[in-house]
Amino acid sequence: MSKVATIEIDGEKYEFPVVEGTENELGIDIKKLRAEAGVITLDRGYKNTGSCESAITFLNGEEGILRYRGYSIEALAEKADFLEVAYLLIFGELPTKTQLDKFYADIKEESTVDEEMKKILDGFPKSAHPMGVLSSLTSALIAFNPSSVNVDSAEDMYKAIVKILGKFPVLAAWTLRKKNSLPLNYGDDSLGYVENLHKMMFEKPGKSYKVDKEVIDALDKLLILHADHEQNCSTSTVRMVGSSHAGLFASISAGISALWGPLHGGANQAVIEMLERIKEDGGDTKKFMAKAKDKEDPFRLMGFGHRVYKNFDPRAKIIKKSADEVLAQLGVDDPVLDIAKGLEKEALEDQYFVDRKLYPNVDFYSGIIYRALGIPVEMFTVMFALGRLPGWIAQWREMRLMKEPIGRPRQIYTGANLREFKEVEKR
Ligand code: CMC
Repeated sequence: MSKVATIEIDGEKYEFPVVEGTENELGIDIKKLRAEAGVITLDRGYKNTGSCESAITFLNGEEGILRYRGYSIEALAEKADFLEVAYLLIFGELPTKTQLDKFYADIKEESTVDEEMKKILDGFPKSAHPMGVLSSLTSALIAFNPSSVNVDSAEDMYKAIVKILGKFPVLAAWTLRKKNSLPLNYGDDSLGYVENLHKMMFEKPGKSYKVDKEVIDALDKLLILHADHEQNCSTSTVRMVGSSHAGLFASISAGISALWGPLHGGANQAVIEMLERIKEDGGDTKKFMAKAKDKEDPFRLMGFGHRVYKNFDPRAKIIKKSADEVLAQLGVDDPVLDIAKGLEKEALEDQYFVDRKLYPNVDFYSGIIYRALGIPVEMFTVMFALGRLPGWIAQWREMRLMKEPIGRPRQIYTGANLREFKEVEKR
């Protein structure tokens, strides 16, 4: 029998259906609350609000479980490649070899951008942050591609998806090339998706391009770990923007801006900067632990804590192991890895962190790997965006196919009551 929730306000009782998910999560459907009881729910930061029903990603923050379409993140990180995971997230099933080959061939067909885009990139100062440039360029893509997708046509939808998957790595690589004063380039059809991305980022003029397999494998794994994370800030942004029927590229451009902030994807850059700061300060982790706990001090331990995980972020576990392996394979000795491990150990034993269930998150160790792979700090969040792209696409597609209504929260107004207008001379 389906469950019902009863809400009592001033002695009056109202009943609402309880929706149950496939993993037995429960949500009270309060759609009719205001119409029936004259009240709304208030939930700053949507800490306890489900914005949709979704079949893409399952996350259990108490137990530290993350699954894409039912497959554990551990299995996917070990056995799948990024493009397979992208297909899985977007279309719901792992692709057959034929489907995967076609998917990649179609993406490759779309792996150029209009030459005019170069002029737009040219207009940015070299000092511009790559995330700002990437968001702007993604938005600029709309000028050269139809801005809306006929979501009722599977073909139109598919075309928009392979277009963004083809063009996005080009734009991401160009943001780095611009910074490094390197000529803008394109990929090589004979390379895989991730190797191609790496080539576009790092290829030097006049030099033949070579990369170690370990580097590509590590990058592939990192992209998989970032590929989706249900209704986080940037994904909710993508869905919210898309809910007004704005196009896919416009929605993704907005998602990039949301991801940029240091409380979200920007944390990977902030973590390395914090670890560097601790190193330069003499490596006294206790001092920074004290700062993080001091409510008068705005300093937070970046890479720690999560809105949903109240246990180890399973991605952080995989990344920590991977950081050890990658650094050993590449023969890199990075002193900030030791500082990171020291901080983690202290935080896990510290009452403040224990009480608040603050554990290392995905961003705590990822920057150390990115750095070992030769990726500059300012590009870390761009790498996150590259990984998150399939998730944004999958969520946008699901939202449109489910014909979700426009996202439009309510508020409790706390401003002035009606006031009389006075002309400027009389104020
Ligand atoms: N350092 C010190 N204290 C912290 C931290 C931290 N990193 N994170 C949370 N707290 C404290 C916070 O001060 C609060 O304490 P109190 O209850 O005494 O007021 C309590 O823990 C709960 O924190 P909150 O800010 O209410 O929790 P939230 O769910 O709103 O925020 C968070 C989650 C991820 C924004 C936050 O933990 C944070 O700012 N972490 C550092 C930034 C970071 O690593 N972000 C990456 C998140 S994972 C990847 C992603 O989303 O992109």
